[in-house]
Amino acid sequence: MEKKDIQNELEYLEKVRKINEGKNLKYYILTMGCQLNENDSEKISGMAQSMGYSQTDNISAADLVIYNTCCIRENAEERLFGKLGEVKKLKAAKGTIIAIGGCMMQEKHIVEKIKNSYKYDVIFGTHTLHKFPEDLYNAIINNKKITDILDIDGEIIEGLPIKRDDNIRASVTIMNGCNNFCTYCIVPYVRGRERSREPEDILKEVQDIAKKGYKEITLLGQNVNSYMRVEREKGTCQSEINSFAKLLREVNKIEGIEKIRFTSPHPKDFTDDVIEAIRDCDKVSKLVHLPLQSGSTNILKSMNRVYTKEQYLNLVDKMKKEIPNVKFSTDIIVGFPGETEEDFEDTLDVVKKVEFEQIFMFIYSRRKGTPADKMKNQVPEEIKHERFDRLKELYEAIIPKNNKEYIGTNQEILVEGYSKTNNEYLTGRTDTNKVVIFKGNPDLIGKMINIQVVSEHMWYLKGEIK
Ligand code: 5AD
Ligand code: SF4
Repeated sequence: MEKKDIQNELEYLEKVRKINEGKNLKYYILTMGCQLNENDSEKISGMAQSMGYSQTDNISAADLVIYNTCCIRENAEERLFGKLGEVKKLKAAKGTIIAIGGCMMQEKHIVEKIKNSYKYDVIFGTHTLHKFPEDLYNAIINNKKITDILDIDGEIIEGLPIKRDDNIRASVTIMNGCNNFCTYCIVPYVRGRERSREPEDILKEVQDIAKKGYKEITLLGQNVNSYMRVEREKGTCQSEINSFAKLLREVNKIEGIEKIRFTSPHPKDFTDDVIEAIRDCDKVSKLVHLPLQSGSTNILKSMNRVYTKEQYLNLVDKMKKEIPNVKFSTDIIVGFPGETEEDFEDTLDVVKKVEFEQIFMFIYSRRKGTPADKMKNQVPEEIKHERFDRLKELYEAIIPKNNKEYIGTNQEILVEGYSKTNNEYLTGRTDTNKVVIFKGNPDLIGKMINIQVVSEHMWYLKGEIK
């Protein structure tokens, strides 16, 4: 794919910076949703800083308020409208600039509602994130509301400034969009079709991150293990590094990076080369995120997940054989249209069999424009909640069982900082993403160390330095 020249955008950054010079302005950003949105927010923050704003956590002190929105489930909408109601007063009192971006802005009915009922200055979408400086400039100079949404897939943008939230762990987006069209999911409609960043750009970003002292990276995308597939099929990928497996192997070679994670993959794209790369790459976490969504073959078909319960379980077995000590985490939706008690029990059955380390559980949420929203056999709310509670109960019975297996073991962990709940302790995570707290010298922050696990406490393990 031809890369877009962002010279124009960089010039707008400079123009806004000149307007803001000497004013000591502040921005406040609220990110909703997934890690991809968080990574986008780091780019929005990078642009805001380059335009002369410094970050504040206090919204009342902000001259620019930015909401980076998500639309994967309905509650995100209610939350945004609540926030927009609150910020109205701030705008009236001190003229705060309000910018709203992200996935929800790709939905026409939401943008209409904001235009009709709320105060804002700039609305930008997922394909126009890089135009934030230009849009903000036009809003300031012309004192006009700007709505800048593109329906066509945005090009891959390289070279935007970025302000990362952490200085030990960093995320790197490797692809945008999704081609899978799971019937419940709005992502393909708001993020567009799959398109991958060039491997050279990704590797350069990871090298830069490593040079800055970061130790852990997470490769991000809606469907990471189909990295470069579209480009491979179209013949537009010039590089030798034309698959996720090859990318993993290259990232694994980068000096300074100690831990590599990735999310989210799709079970259908776990080809042998990907499994072998996870096995062979010493820095790649052996916790594989394998979104199940449902354990029922019927529901999986209706979800357009293109695998059956048996194929999923076979994949788990295959990975267990190939990758020593592999563990799994997953995403599960309960109450998808047509889900019967029997279907739900299939989900519970898979959970019992795989004994996931981590489960992200969701109650099915109807999304406008998706095929599942039009399905006639929607599950009543009380049944959805009852199933959610039963799944949660099962999960909470599995956690201590899994945790007990860690007691007495040695774990190599990256020390992330002080524990948020008890600052007498430092904290880090095992390769399998379990939080471990332990007493130690703060000089260890940012280092890989060995810990012996001494006890388990549901959501964390306690350890001692070896
Ligand atoms: N309702 C509930 N959960 C959803 N997800 C995606 N769309 C929906 C929806 N409409 C969940 C899936 C996905 C995760 C990121 O969000 O489990 O893997
Ligand atoms: Fe949504 Fe399915 Fe794509 Fe994931 S793979 S983003 S659940 S459509």
